[in-house]
Amino acid sequence: MCGIIGYIGKRKAIPILIQGLERLEYRGYDSAGVACLPIAKFDRSTDGQEGSGSIHPRFCVYKERGKIAQLKSRINHGFPDAHIGIGHTRWATHGAPSKVNAHPHLGPRGQIALVHNGIVENYDELKSELKRKGSRFKSETDTEVAAHLIESYYHGDLAQAMRLAAKRIKGFFAFVAIARSEPGRICALKRSNPLVVGIGRGEHFIASDVSALLSYTKNVIYLEDNELVELKSDSIRVTRIGSRKRLKKKVSRVDWSVEEAQKGGFRHFMLKEIYEQPRVLEEILEKRAVGKNTIEFDTISAKIQSRLKHTDKIYMVSCGTAYHAGLVGDYLFEDEQLARIPAEAHVSSEFRYSAPLIGRNDAAIFITQSGETADTLAALRQAKKRGVLTIGIVNVVGSTIAREADAVIYTHAGPEIGVASTKAYLAQLMTLSLLSAYLGVLRGRLSKSQLEKFVREAKQLPRKVSEILQNQSAIDQAARALYRKGHFLYLGRGYNFPNALEGALKLKEITYAHAHGYAAGEMKHGPIALIDSEQPVVCLAPRKSRTYDKMLSNIEEIHARQGIIISIATENDQMIKRRSRFIFWIPNTLEQFSPILTAVPLQLFAYKVAVLNCRDVDQPRNLAKSVTVE
Ligand code: AGP
Repeated sequence: MCGIIGYIGKRKAIPILIQGLERLEYRGYDSAGVACLPIAKFDRSTDGQEGSGSIHPRFCVYKERGKIAQLKSRINHGFPDAHIGIGHTRWATHGAPSKVNAHPHLGPRGQIALVHNGIVENYDELKSELKRKGSRFKSETDTEVAAHLIESYYHGDLAQAMRLAAKRIKGFFAFVAIARSEPGRICALKRSNPLVVGIGRGEHFIASDVSALLSYTKNVIYLEDNELVELKSDSIRVTRIGSRKRLKKKVSRVDWSVEEAQKGGFRHFMLKEIYEQPRVLEEILEKRAVGKNTIEFDTISAKIQSRLKHTDKIYMVSCGTAYHAGLVGDYLFEDEQLARIPAEAHVSSEFRYSAPLIGRNDAAIFITQSGETADTLAALRQAKKRGVLTIGIVNVVGSTIAREADAVIYTHAGPEIGVASTKAYLAQLMTLSLLSAYLGVLRGRLSKSQLEKFVREAKQLPRKVSEILQNQSAIDQAARALYRKGHFLYLGRGYNFPNALEGALKLKEITYAHAHGYAAGEMKHGPIALIDSEQPVVCLAPRKSRTYDKMLSNIEEIHARQGIIISIATENDQMIKRRSRFIFWIPNTLEQFSPILTAVPLQLFAYKVAVLNCRDVDQPRNLAKSVTVE
């Protein structure tokens, strides 16, 4: 949930920390801070020894509530010359967003400075114990407790103190710390939350994800759980928390340029990412639909393929938008024209506490853009304990869920910075569509000719999404007419019922308007009471649908009650046009691919309404891009 960065090397640390935090701000942005150790002033010791003494400098700590800009303006008035430092941008979990609760936090004697991403679940118990030993706390945070705990074990060896503290701490964490008396070393360790080391020349970096490092290096090392890293300007040492044996770690090269993680000329990351969708679909098709009737998943080994071939049921477990992708996956995997496998989508936070009837003959797919969502990660671990085959459909390479699942299928959507998920969602839908066809072939339900028809239409989708992007006038008109409305209904059936939920989520999370998605058949069971001449209703009604006529009836019912109908319909559908105040055309496509096309006008409509309402589109209030706490 929070963003962490550390630097040690030949350059001034503060500017590097600030720039890195700006790249990590989407992970949480209610407060931020940095701590550094200014260059020590060497002084002759009082006992007359030549140059033996040195005055260990005190930490310089800067913290501000709010976004990085506030911290930056505070520091611009001057900062010390330091070549080692740590920084943090926060999304509050324990303690309200405030300056005093901002990280870094120091130990009681000011020996240790610590930044943290995660939750110390037993912080209450530890805090009482430390208080009994004389600790006094300034903040309400669990992180300050961790800083005190580490310092209580500190006798000149920061790595050892962190090892001992980690054994006492329950919960998920990524810690990065520096010690006042060890200005040449940064120590960090992790359990579940991400940390990646950036390798420079005569300098090293550590951060929550690669976007903070890309200005300086593309060579990185992903830390695994319970690994501790000691960074000096000229060396990296990785060990396990429980041992001192040096580990040999693989260096990965990140193919994302810094520019990719920038806005690229668009006003918001979200808009840039909406426009990236045709390219994202093309990349997936290039990787997966390798021939006119062949679909490949390079990370599905023969062993996993065999388990999938015989699996009794597929569970999909995810949150938010990724959950809506799971709901579409339900229809795809059960579709008699595709895999025809029993499937069930679950919200991660429900699945993990519901004692699900899932077993060794089942498969569980964990859909997640960030690969760090706490509830989804916990559900994955629970499924693994039950011997279930676990597959991650993940966007962030090297993320925790990607590394812990039995297999991972990357969605290759590139960095998604906007908090509202768009291109990652379409990538999830594309991946699930191809996976269901792949399983259909594997289980002998899909003939090569049927697959060929499916793949041929799949390869048309990037162009069809581009067409939607090129014709936005109706969406602009609708947004201008309706952006002051405070309540919206979204209705869909079958494959497009999940997109009724997704369209509503997009609107509410970036415009703060009330929006509710329903299965259109549910209208008569309550929601129709909302319909009057002031009520906008978004109706998803693509022509190729087994329930098209039923959707038409629902539109008639709304029309009869003067509802404001905004339809998403297949080009030239005059029946729908006659009943609609606004109509967003989409190209014709197979029913199975229709959610990929209907999602795009929903994203654009939400974006335009948010901009007209002057909302913080990329970082909506109360939200963060990756929910790494429960
Ligand atoms: C989507 O627009 C939201 N930002 C949110 O619902 C998101 O989809 C959810 O938190 C899941 O995140 P994940 O895909 O990284 O697991």
